[in-house]
Amino acid sequence: MNMKEFSIENAPKYSRVASARKVSPEYRDVVGASVELLQDYRVQIHSQTPRNPVEPFEGSILDISHNLWQDWRGIWSCAANCLLEITSDPANLIKAKQYTEALLTPELLDGPLWRQAYTKPRGYPGDYLVMDHIYNGNPRGDTLYGQVVHMLAIEIGQFVEKRKKFARQSIDEMVARCENPDGMLIASLGCGPAKEIVEFSQSHLTGTRPLTFVLVDQDSEALQHAGHSISETLKERQDGPPIDIQLRHQSVMRLMREVGPSEMLLHADMIYSAGLFDYFGDRTCHVLSKRLYEALRPGGLLLLGNMKANTDMIGPLELIADWTLTYRTAENVLSWADGLKGAEISLRTDDTGYDYLLSVRKPA
Ligand SMILES: C[S@@+](CC[C@H](N)C(=O)[O-])C[C@H]1O[C@@H](n2cnc3c(N)ncnc32)[C@H](O)[C@@H]1O
Repeated sequence: MNMKEFSIENAPKYSRVASARKVSPEYRDVVGASVELLQDYRVQIHSQTPRNPVEPFEGSILDISHNLWQDWRGIWSCAANCLLEITSDPANLIKAKQYTEALLTPELLDGPLWRQAYTKPRGYPGDYLVMDHIYNGNPRGDTLYGQVVHMLAIEIGQFVEKRKKFARQSIDEMVARCENPDGMLIASLGCGPAKEIVEFSQSHLTGTRPLTFVLVDQDSEALQHAGHSISETLKERQDGPPIDIQLRHQSVMRLMREVGPSEMLLHADMIYSAGLFDYFGDRTCHVLSKRLYEALRPGGLLLLGNMKANTDMIGPLELIADWTLTYRTAENVLSWADGLKGAEISLRTDDTGYDYLLSVRKPA
């Protein structure tokens, strides 16, 4: 499919709505270019969709969505400065959100991932179904256009896949170095679909030391979904050490007040949380990381993820999908480990450049 070249210069001028919302001309052009891009794809996909459903569709959904992703990146990579201006002032942010939700968001809602993220049927942003769409990675949607924009969201959400991979690798490494005959306890906070544990259970077929995974989530449906996926995987296994799964339907905020962390997590060898601390304020992050560190056994590992500040991810998440997170600097994330005695600390950025991953290891 040949698409015309998109750039900020040939973007339509959405000035009437923009001036009503007092949005900067630069941001107006980013939104205008994105809307025009999506409308052009919609029209072209529609014109190539066979009337008779048995005829094959001319274009490959994956190729088209990849082209769309390239065009989309071209537009949003020019947006860094105006996004900075938007996020530096809460009043600007509100106006930019209203403007984006009025014009751009509706162009994307045919894609199930966008719809789930924006409409929040489970009452909070970033639920386990949103995560599952990204992990599943396949086209979904009632129309071809819907499938293409669904795939665009999956491309944008690759940081979720990368941090899951990182969690999975870290579990593998921890388990490989386990010397305790009683095995290990690994806890995931805000576990969602716990895809990394599903994958681990599928492939961990050697060794004899028992493993316990404690899954904590405030959404009972997410927990049931994760528990079911893992137990189906375990049923299919012929070999492998015993794996015990404990589901805890509770808010991590309980750790801040009612329960001691070691009571809730026993003495964990590894505690990790990907995609949760971004929902919390600074004080909560500081207190929680200290309490979680206390709950670790000697030699244990605490892994915490948080979205990086000053990237263009605020566009699709906050402005388009109304998915509010706290984006943090390296200093801010590192400060969670301040005062943790003897801790070996490292901070890395995931391969997409959107997520920080803080590792804190307790001395053995
Ligand atoms: C963005 S998802 C991340 C899920 C998973 N860690 C992943 O990366 O696939 C956030 C998860 O945290 C859960 N969550 C949010 N606030 C929570 C809290 N206060 N206590 C426990 N779970 C929470 C949500 O229910 C959701 O399943």
